[in-house]
Amino acid sequence: MKPDSKCPIHNFDDAFDPLDLANPYPLLEQAREEQPIFYSSDIDYWVVTQYDDIKAIFRDHETYTAENTITPIVPFSDAVKAMLDDGAYTPQPVLSNNVPPSHSRIRSYVNRLFTPRRMNSFAPAIRQIAQDMVERIKDKEQVDIVADLTYEFPAYVLFHVLGVPAEDVPQVKEWAGNRLKLYYGRPTADEQIAMTQNLVPFWKYTVNLVNKKVANPQDDLTSDLIRLRDGDDSKLTLNEIASCMITLLVAGHETTTAQISNTLLHWLGNREQWDLLCKNPEQIPQSIEESMRYDPSVCTWRRFTRKASTINGVDIPENANLLLMLNSGNRDVTIFPEPDNIDITRDNVRDHLAFGYGIHYCVGAPLARLEMGILLETLTQTLPNMHLVPDQTIDYVRNISFRGPVKLFVEYQ
Ligand code: HEM
Repeated sequence: MKPDSKCPIHNFDDAFDPLDLANPYPLLEQAREEQPIFYSSDIDYWVVTQYDDIKAIFRDHETYTAENTITPIVPFSDAVKAMLDDGAYTPQPVLSNNVPPSHSRIRSYVNRLFTPRRMNSFAPAIRQIAQDMVERIKDKEQVDIVADLTYEFPAYVLFHVLGVPAEDVPQVKEWAGNRLKLYYGRPTADEQIAMTQNLVPFWKYTVNLVNKKVANPQDDLTSDLIRLRDGDDSKLTLNEIASCMITLLVAGHETTTAQISNTLLHWLGNREQWDLLCKNPEQIPQSIEESMRYDPSVCTWRRFTRKASTINGVDIPENANLLLMLNSGNRDVTIFPEPDNIDITRDNVRDHLAFGYGIHYCVGAPLARLEMGILLETLTQTLPNMHLVPDQTIDYVRNISFRGPVKLFVEYQ
């Protein structure tokens, strides 16, 4: 039974539905106060809710590794495993679910792609994409801003920087969304098979992309990575590069789609905040950080215990799964006073956990910050009268980690 008031919960395991992202915040607030670490038998994870515990876990990457971050919640059936073998599906751990020293080697190359300077070189093209997309919706009376803008905008940006043809955006968005549901949702056996049928062509597409860039390198990040490899497998193998690309082709847009949608939902829902942004665009970067604190699109992330340990007085065994509630850490009152209020004047807002922390800290953060800023600038300048259609129901996809509205209707008049 889910609580809707603050009565004490004696068994968080029963009360917690890890896939229900509709409104996780009241339960998490109670957990932080009453039982900050609890076990979820539903998914066999230890759930960690306080900021300091989450950060300590991120910091100690030897005890708590990231190797389970893309482990499917529903283990793959034998039929699925056979389909992956037959389809020569060979992505390997490179970034999110990798461990040192291999992670450190690969990350040292990928870091060089996402420098703020390189990202800024893409700013004019990103602004053009934003303006073109906003232009297409500005004369409509009512739009679903997710379907008409935030779903595809980050993918067009990412494809531009990676050097992937823009016409492939709809197909790759579909493949990426499918992959998220397969790994982070709870598909039935039949759904798992159907989703796997989509996974194999996604991998083949990525391998093909890398081969094309090897033959014909251009001014894009995929080609940059191939140049850094310099034909030397001890630096990076081609399979590692393709594995990095499939990771980026998922991590680099689904997250941003949801974060921009969350920002629009909350800023338009707090009208004075939106009006302030329209009048003071220099506050946009700080607003983005506060939005990521208040409602992070990657609402949870995972770690795996390589040895037994004690966290905040709770003994956690070796080989256990941890679900780190980034959305809960970001509302921890000991770090962020009045955490349920949007306040863009917070001094420490950049201490939020929405991009993770430590050796796996989001490598795409400079791109995400840049593109979200440019889109918000374009929207506040072009459509300052935008407002939410009243009384709409906001739905979220059932999964454990990615939170953003499925639809969000806005009007301009
Ligand atoms: C608002 C948008 C985004 C959010 C909220 C987000 C969030 C995160 C989080 C929570 C992690 C895990 C960090 C950890 O384990 O400590 C992560 C890792 C990662 N993100 Fe992002 N991300 C976003 C955008 C992007 C973009 C645009 C890209 C690429 C273009 C990207 C690529 C990655 C990659 C490759 C990793 C794995 C890094 C590693 O393990 O070394 N992300 N991100």
